[in-house]
Amino acid sequence: MRPRQDINRVTRSKEDAKAAYNRLCKWYDIITIGSEGRYLQLGLSKLNVKEGEKVLEIGFGTGQGVLSLAKAVGINGRVYGIDLSEGMLRLAQAKIDGAGLKERVELKCGDAMVLPFEFGSLDSVFMSFTLELFDTPEIPIMLGECKRVLGVGGRICVVAMSKPRELKLAVRIYEWVHDKFPVYVDCRPIFAR
Ligand SMILES: C[S@@+](CC[C@H](N)C(=O)[O-])C[C@H]1O[C@@H](n2cnc3c(N)ncnc32)[C@H](O)[C@@H]1O
Repeated sequence: MRPRQDINRVTRSKEDAKAAYNRLCKWYDIITIGSEGRYLQLGLSKLNVKEGEKVLEIGFGTGQGVLSLAKAVGINGRVYGIDLSEGMLRLAQAKIDGAGLKERVELKCGDAMVLPFEFGSLDSVFMSFTLELFDTPEIPIMLGECKRVLGVGGRICVVAMSKPRELKLAVRIYEWVHDKFPVYVDCRPIFAR
């Protein structure tokens, strides 16, 4: 059988996505700690944010990434975050407050299809396990927004579940579940590169 060269569409609404992440947020770290955490950390080390930078995380979830970024930018830097879910925002904000870093972090609730930043106002953008939640036609638009806010010389790091050319059974099962239960499993592998 030839591998499929397309990617699944995302059919659930943003309201459904928001409700799903609001329900999931309390359990998110427990569910993902063994599987996703090390890729998030690998992405952060590749982005290699320096002191004084202005950095945005899209889909910051429970705040693991924004916490690391806030430490990396130091007192002269600034970390911004945007996430669809208020539940995730509350958890992430509590982590930042608990670490005494709230002066350098600004978290917002919203859809990252429109980024509330000026052209070229940021040094870097980070996202992990979030690009694959956007529907296929939305992906280039959202990345275009990232390019706009970064301007010339900006850096972006995307950690995503990537679809291999040769489809393994596990990826086929994942795509099948995404097809059948799009509200419960909203991410699917994409051609991230
Ligand atoms: C799979 S979680 C990943 C969380 C975090 N980046 C991590 O790696 O642990 C995806 C996050 O993206 C957020 N999200 C989903 N769609 C979004 C959108 N359109 N705009 C902004 N955030 C979104 C969800 O609320 C959720 O917190």
